[in-house]
Formats: sequence, C-alpha cells, structure tokens
Amino acid sequence: MKALALALAIAGASLGLSALAQTSPPAGSPRLPAAAASPAPEPAQLGLCVACHGKNGAPLQPGTPHIGGQSEAYLMQALRAYRDGSRRAVAMNAISNALQPRDIEELARWYAAQPGPAARR
Ligand code: HEC
Repeated sequence: MKALALALAIAGASLGLSALAQTSPPAGSPRLPAAAASPAPEPAQLGLCVACHGKNGAPLQPGTPHIGGQSEAYLMQALRAYRDGSRRAVAMNAISNALQPRDIEELARWYAAQPGPAARR
C-alpha cells in the first residue's frame, strides 16, 4: 500500500510539473508580434495627458471625464473639436493645440483600448 501511495504521489508530482511546463510555449513556437499583444502602441504625446487622464483614461483630477474605453471615433472627434475651438474647455483647447492629426489618431486609439469606467471598481 505504501508503495502504491508513493507511486501515485510521484505520478501526481510529475503531472503537476508537466502541466506547469505547458504554460510556457514550446521553444521555436511563433511569437505574436508586439502589435497583436498590445492593440495600441503608446502614443508619443501620451505624456501630455497623464496628469489629468492617467495612462489608462481613469481621471486623476476632479472634473476630468473618464475617457478609457470610450469609442475611438468619439475621442477623435472630441480632440478635433477642442483643437479647432468648436468645443470649448480651457485646458483641452490649449493642450490639443500641441497635437498633430496623427497624435489625435494615436491618442484616440490608445484611450479607446483602455478599460471603461465599469471595469474600474
Ligand atoms: C489639465 C488637465 C487635463 C489634461 C492635461 C488633459 N485633459 Fe483632457 N480633459 C480635461 C477636462 C477637465 C476635460 C473636460 C472638458 C470639457 O468639459 O469639455 C477633458 C476632456 C477630454 C476629452 C473629452 C471627453 C468627453 O467625454 O467628451 C478628451 C477626449 C480628452 N480630454 C483627451 C485628452 C488627451 C488625449 C489629452 C492629452 C493630449 C488630454 N485630454 C489632456 C482635462 C485634461
């Protein structure tokens, strides 16, 4: 009986080890390109936004809206409107002036890919 228990323990341990080993991909397996692992590369101008919106779009300052997980098209439109002055908010009018069209696209894609407000709890 002791021998059986020992054999079972050894079998269990080796099963456990092989299960662990399977969590890392076998050598030489194709790796996903970085772009697939994170859907949006970090925008060059993200540093202009983080003081108020954080990296993930959850507000760090009172009165700042949550923009993480918002639709990309909406974010792009909002940034363009701040930039051309058709939407007025002192901070955003000033900041969006520094953005090129390409920055607006990158930032909208980035924040759209972050968790929405419901995921924050
Ligand atoms: C000084 C703080 C501050 C910084 C820095 C800042 N924002 Fe804002 N942002 C705000 C505030 C406050 C609002 C709300 C303005 C309003 O009432 O329209 C806002 C609104 C927005 C909105 C509209 C959200 C909505 O729901 O309509 C977007 C999009 C946005 N910001 C993106 C950005 C991006 C991208 C950056 C960096 C380039 C940035 N913000 C930098 C404070 C900031």
